[in-house]
Amino acid sequence: MFANADIPPLIPRPAAMERYGDDFELASDTAIVADAANCNNAAYLRDLLAAPTGFSLPIVLTPLADAPTPAKAIRLKTDPAQAGGREGYRLDVTPETVEITAAAPTGVFYGIQTLQQLLPIEIERRNLVSDLRWRVPGLVIRDAPRFPWRGFMLDQARYFHGKATVLRLLDLMALHKLNVFHWHLTDDQGWRIEIKKYPRLTEVGGWRRETVVGRWREDEANPPFDGARHGGFYTQDEVREVVAYAAGRGITTLPEIEMPGHAQAAIAAYPELGNTGQQLDVATRWGIIENVYNVEEHTIRFLQDVLDEVMDLFPSQFIHIGGDEVPKKQWRESAAAQRRIQELGLKDEDALQSYFVHRMDAFLAGRGRRLVGWEEILEGGLAPGATIMSWRGEQGGIAAALAGHDVVMTPTHWTYFDYYQSQETNREPLAIGGYVPLEKVYIYEPIPAAIDPIHAHHVLGTQAQLWTEYVPTPEHIEYMTFPRLCALAEVAWSPVTGKDYPGFLNRLRPHLERLRLLGVHFRPLDV
Ligand code: ACM
Repeated sequence: MFANADIPPLIPRPAAMERYGDDFELASDTAIVADAANCNNAAYLRDLLAAPTGFSLPIVLTPLADAPTPAKAIRLKTDPAQAGGREGYRLDVTPETVEITAAAPTGVFYGIQTLQQLLPIEIERRNLVSDLRWRVPGLVIRDAPRFPWRGFMLDQARYFHGKATVLRLLDLMALHKLNVFHWHLTDDQGWRIEIKKYPRLTEVGGWRRETVVGRWREDEANPPFDGARHGGFYTQDEVREVVAYAAGRGITTLPEIEMPGHAQAAIAAYPELGNTGQQLDVATRWGIIENVYNVEEHTIRFLQDVLDEVMDLFPSQFIHIGGDEVPKKQWRESAAAQRRIQELGLKDEDALQSYFVHRMDAFLAGRGRRLVGWEEILEGGLAPGATIMSWRGEQGGIAAALAGHDVVMTPTHWTYFDYYQSQETNREPLAIGGYVPLEKVYIYEPIPAAIDPIHAHHVLGTQAQLWTEYVPTPEHIEYMTFPRLCALAEVAWSPVTGKDYPGFLNRLRPHLERLRLLGVHFRPLDV
């Protein structure tokens, strides 16, 4: 085992690690030897190492009958017998070889991420670093994730940051072995994905006239606005590029199309989707907004058309339909909504929402997909195939898991990265409120005590949420996300045994130097 000072500062901490023997040293004649399944991994590794080392490492694809066995090599191997599932891997470092073995290429990819973190932090530089010995400590690591769902949610509706920001975040997610990018693409304040059949969604819904300034308060009659038009959207070509880029890093992109609430941008584009017939603007202020979709057949068809285009773009098994914070006022006051409740023989507005979610669940299931929504879709009865995200606390997740539904634990108390990182809020950029410091993220346990071992497998995992009402720039995204995402990654990947906050901080300090070289605008530990 490692002497303490010797532990490489890996984040997330691997499941098992032992030190033995001498270091491996990367040299210009080191070959990357890979089987056919790891062709992309080999190219990824070569490109990762090229700029700072100045080495253009040869790739040798096996089996090649006459391929000479290189003296020094990094070997990338697929072996169906390797333990650890699709994402697990084994990494062996001796003076002659670095060998990464996994049951699937995704596991090898994670082994490469570990190798990257074992190399000197200068490996993150994008220009040549001379006079440095590229050593990897001799060791063996056996690693596999604790949870299959290790996510990061980014709200692109409140502020739009564009493709380059997303690609960079995907790289940083991969470095931390996260595997679900939850892309919140529509909300009251903006519709951010091109839908060919309904161009006004982005022409109109993609832009708001201005944005409220400062902390939004429901009771403030005349808040200040910035007078600046804000908007933008991802074209379908950009979406395909993001999805492919993520897939190349083991990341599934989960699209979220909000319904039946958080819908004002869409209703501004197509007023017939609403309940009042009124021509609305795209929302310019935050909070929970009364303008929700109606539940008429034409609206259900519209949303299913949107989902059809979304499913063409996103191969993700799960499709997120939002479902949170749906005020029922307009349904209560609308003659059409009341008629619909009568026609369908429903009890009340909660049952109407449940009916709506059931329709979407059946629609997605009919196309081989699975619906996921925020926990409010429990209200009025959960659709049979639905998976929920438990955000207001743990209760929704507990209820759903005990009823046999899958859940992703996303409670505000531990996973909301729009909350403050310090109690000295006057020293922090304006945030929505709350208090989720690094340690709170780190100590989070995604399987609540109330879920017995029989049902624990329904907890698929956890993810961080970054809502962006108060996060206008990419630098600010990074400030809110790091280092808390390092802690979340460890919660989702590493075994509970060995969880230790001071130990995590010891690894985090050098890891932050790595992030600094990557240009990440993380929040410093001591401010
Ligand atoms: C949420 O924070 N409204 C899911």
